[in-house]
Amino acid sequence: MNTEMESYEKEISDYKMELFDNLVGKAEKVLEIGIGTEAGLKSEDFTFIQALGESIPLEDASVDAVVGTLVLCSVTDVTRTLNEIKRILRPGGIYIFIEHVAAEDGTFLRLVQNVLDPLQQVVADGCHLTRHTGESILEARFNGGADVKKASLSRFAYISSHVYGVAYN
Ligand SMILES: C[S@@+](CC[C@H](N)C(=O)[O-])C[C@H]1O[C@@H](n2cnc3c(N)ncnc32)[C@H](O)[C@@H]1O
Repeated sequence: MNTEMESYEKEISDYKMELFDNLVGKAEKVLEIGIGTEAGLKSEDFTFIQALGESIPLEDASVDAVVGTLVLCSVTDVTRTLNEIKRILRPGGIYIFIEHVAAEDGTFLRLVQNVLDPLQQVVADGCHLTRHTGESILEARFNGGADVKKASLSRFAYISSHVYGVAYN
């Protein structure tokens, strides 16, 4: 991810800055799921938990915020993962997300995604191209609702369609 995704990270960084602003001064205990390769973080600054998003080994209402970028494309069970995120967030806690999603039905891009999806799962460690993750986040019914925005990146072909935003517990 470090080497292959450099140009992607450049394009997505403004979205991340906007979203992560929600954490400043408001969230002390933050869980990032599907952390990937986090270059530059000192190990004494965080606790690494090896677990699945579908079964997070943390107490109910125990964190201020959950962050997940490009993770719900890869988990086995999106609904269970979202339910776990809701469970561990304290009342008033927030879930911040950026996810690539299925393109609009009937578009050429969607057709390409449909064709490439099985291959993507093999070469990209279980990543799905055709998930309706924005809808899944809304259907999870976070107590305070969810602000799900759409973004279309200018490059990155079959993963250009994104949703990003904040869900409020
Ligand atoms: C595409 S990578 C994204 C990494 C990083 N968040 C980023 O934005 O670069 C997907 C991540 O999801 C993790 N993952 C896959 N299945 C998971 C699951 N069931 N529970 C938690 N994490 C999972 C992978 O280990 C990987 O770190």
